[in-house]
Amino acid sequence: MLHWLEKNLIKILRRIDKPLSFEEAANLLNRDVGTVAKTVQWLREKELLEVETRTIHFVSLGPEGEAYSLEGLPERRLVDRLSDLGGVVNIEELRKSLEENIFKIGLLWAKKNGWIQIEARNSEKFIKLIYYPPETSEEKILKQLREKKTIEFESLDEDLKKACLNLKSRQSVIEIEEIKKYYIRLTEKALRIPQEELEVEEITRLTQDMLISGSWRQYRFSKFNVSAPSKPVYTGKRHPLQRLIKIVKEKFVEMGFEEIRGPVVELAFWNFDALFQPQDHPARDMHDTFYLDQPRIGQLPENLVEKIKNVHEKGGSTGSLGWRYLWKREEAEKLVLRTHTTATTIRYLAEHPDPPIKVFSVDRIYRNEKVDWKHLAEFHQIEGIVMDKGVCFRDLIGLIREFYSRLGLKDVKFRPSYFPYTEPSAEAIVYLREKNTWLELIGMGIFRPEVTQPLGVKYPVLAWGGGLERLALALYDLEDIRTFYFNDLRWIRSISNIYLEKKIGMM
Ligand code: PHE
Repeated sequence: MLHWLEKNLIKILRRIDKPLSFEEAANLLNRDVGTVAKTVQWLREKELLEVETRTIHFVSLGPEGEAYSLEGLPERRLVDRLSDLGGVVNIEELRKSLEENIFKIGLLWAKKNGWIQIEARNSEKFIKLIYYPPETSEEKILKQLREKKTIEFESLDEDLKKACLNLKSRQSVIEIEEIKKYYIRLTEKALRIPQEELEVEEITRLTQDMLISGSWRQYRFSKFNVSAPSKPVYTGKRHPLQRLIKIVKEKFVEMGFEEIRGPVVELAFWNFDALFQPQDHPARDMHDTFYLDQPRIGQLPENLVEKIKNVHEKGGSTGSLGWRYLWKREEAEKLVLRTHTTATTIRYLAEHPDPPIKVFSVDRIYRNEKVDWKHLAEFHQIEGIVMDKGVCFRDLIGLIREFYSRLGLKDVKFRPSYFPYTEPSAEAIVYLREKNTWLELIGMGIFRPEVTQPLGVKYPVLAWGGGLERLALALYDLEDIRTFYFNDLRWIRSISNIYLEKKIGMM
């Protein structure tokens, strides 16, 4: 049983009907030399093929030969000069008219070739041109070598071979290199194989039987068409919103922030009271905030209760008048789904009152909203604080500007705003070039003394918090915020894995 490569190689050798080198066979078989070598080995073991070694000689120019092939052989230059000077000339005169070397070598060979004669007249020596030769075989070889660089010695006719050997005897005119080449030839046995046994069948499917019997060797497998149309393959990927979250987190980390997280079910105390948000503030209304039924209340941080009560009622020791009402712990004990991540921030600050602090969070928050194209009841906020000696409002503006610029949003403006827990307060808006509109992004400010003093925080706290989905809408060019939660696979698949990186100029 012959492998299809064996069959094809035999067929090629039969067709060409002369020994082939490995390279020639590889070319005709349309395979590499390694494959040919392997196939040759199989065929040799079956005594269908013989390999013969041939030694080939390659002729090339030596350093001297390079010069001669340009300027002519010395003997040619000598007889040329001699003929220019009239055919007979005083030897000293001829010597002076040529380079010393050329003269010497030229004289030697011209004499040897019988082109010139030296005659003595009186006491002077004369050189006489007796035969002006047409182009010699040596000259022909030099000319060919100039053009082809190398010539196979064995391919030359007898005359040129002799010329090569002549030139070889002269130092560094030409070089002859020996190379061994392998040729393959079919044996008698191979020539006797009937042609139909050399047919190669092409198959597309490999079966178990073929493997067991080894008959697979005689078939040729058709190639896969790797450009044929096929079903698209969707690789696993992060949800577009999660990808933005990941990038936002990376940006904060790049800027030296640490991530913090806090509970989703939060005490109204942290969500509102600790932030100096009065207990009758409309945001605390059931219409805005989700309150828990079960359990309804949680454990207050007792060490802070008096201080917060005091600051709400009378301003504590901040110099503020406070809200001037009766603060009730029952209101603060209530459990809510946090309405902003500032609850998490203030919790963290209460436990870490000492500078420096640089933390951020990107997390879920909940508001009692009617869901529509631009409102969700459950969404995300980007939030953070910086607390240190001497930080100021300008640092805050610079920081926010830097953050958005790292997201590719360069046109950020700031305008005054209000939050119960910051003073001064501002909000950042960003210009969306493609939509030609300004988008409100984030609220910010410096925590009021009514917020920081009860916690024992002595240095300014720069704080900010804003929507993630809004930013996502802008970056993904969407109109409806609910797109992120429809789980429409067609849309999710359509967003490339590096869409954001490209959009914000990271790639
Ligand atoms: N918590 C505010 C909001 O939900 C944002 C904010 C955070 C404002 C921190 C100022 C300081 O909109």
